[in-house]
Amino acid sequence: MKESLSIHISDEEIQNLNKMIYIQYGYDFSDYSLASYKRRLSRIMINFKILNLTDLEYKLVEDELFFNVFLEEVTVNVTEMFRDPDFYKCLRRDIIPQLSTYPMIRIWHAGCSTGEEVYSLAILLKEADLLKRSLLYATDINEDVLIKAKSGSFSLELMKEYNENYKNTGGLFDLSDYYTVKDDRAIFNEEFRNRMVFSPHNLIQDKSFNEFNLILCRNVLIYFNRDLQNRVIKLFSMSLSSFGYLALGSKETLELNGVNEEFELVNKQQKIWKRKK
Ligand SMILES: C[S@@+](CC[C@H](N)C(=O)[O-])C[C@H]1O[C@@H](n2cnc3c(N)ncnc32)[C@H](O)[C@@H]1O
Repeated sequence: MKESLSIHISDEEIQNLNKMIYIQYGYDFSDYSLASYKRRLSRIMINFKILNLTDLEYKLVEDELFFNVFLEEVTVNVTEMFRDPDFYKCLRRDIIPQLSTYPMIRIWHAGCSTGEEVYSLAILLKEADLLKRSLLYATDINEDVLIKAKSGSFSLELMKEYNENYKNTGGLFDLSDYYTVKDDRAIFNEEFRNRMVFSPHNLIQDKSFNEFNLILCRNVLIYFNRDLQNRVIKLFSMSLSSFGYLALGSKETLELNGVNEEFELVNKQQKIWKRKK
């Protein structure tokens, strides 16, 4: 079976599946963007040769380990270091100098996946001599990715590409200055990990847990429907200090509907807003 065959899934079948997942596992996918959710389900079914949604439901009820595979596929964990270098260039040039005015800088990476984004920002903070007074809280719905993020260990193979990204942000050094090599892994220096707190957090169901000067939630909201996107933006608004910054992903189409009076656009292309007082 090829993915292009794609399996027909009705909205009613999806509702039943979501109900079951919520009851058994406590995750609520009912406000994920339907088109992309259906594509993901179809992909799982093709990969595991599952012929219909009833069989998928049955497998999810029976097999907790399979639920982890399902979660990984549905939540999409693709990430990289210094993803969209122009965004990091903008942080370096315009946002980090503003953050330097705070005695203690609190940052929240919501939907941090395996952490590449968190280490990227920590490097920029170090280069601005701000790492020592920064705390980077990094959260994700998926606990497996957080274990990888905490380790600070990434495939050495990727470092050439990441180093190019880093240079394109205006980086003056070499990424290898920040890690040691062990076998085929690049292990980032302890000083970065010491400033990071990784913890599970579900943007749909969990509450605000601190007040931040910068929140990054990049390439996460694109998987949610408009209603859920707006609810999450409200959560961010409640979690930002006055004049705190919110950075979304470059593909995000949302205009901060419903809460836009609370935000001022800082950079349209890089999708950065500032919370008004
Ligand atoms: C495509 S990755 C983005 C990673 C990183 N922010 C970046 O831009 O490279 C999306 C991440 O959002 C997480 N995610 C999806 N739904 C979530 C939810 N309801 N609450 C918290 N995180 C979620 C996924 O587990 C995944 O790690």
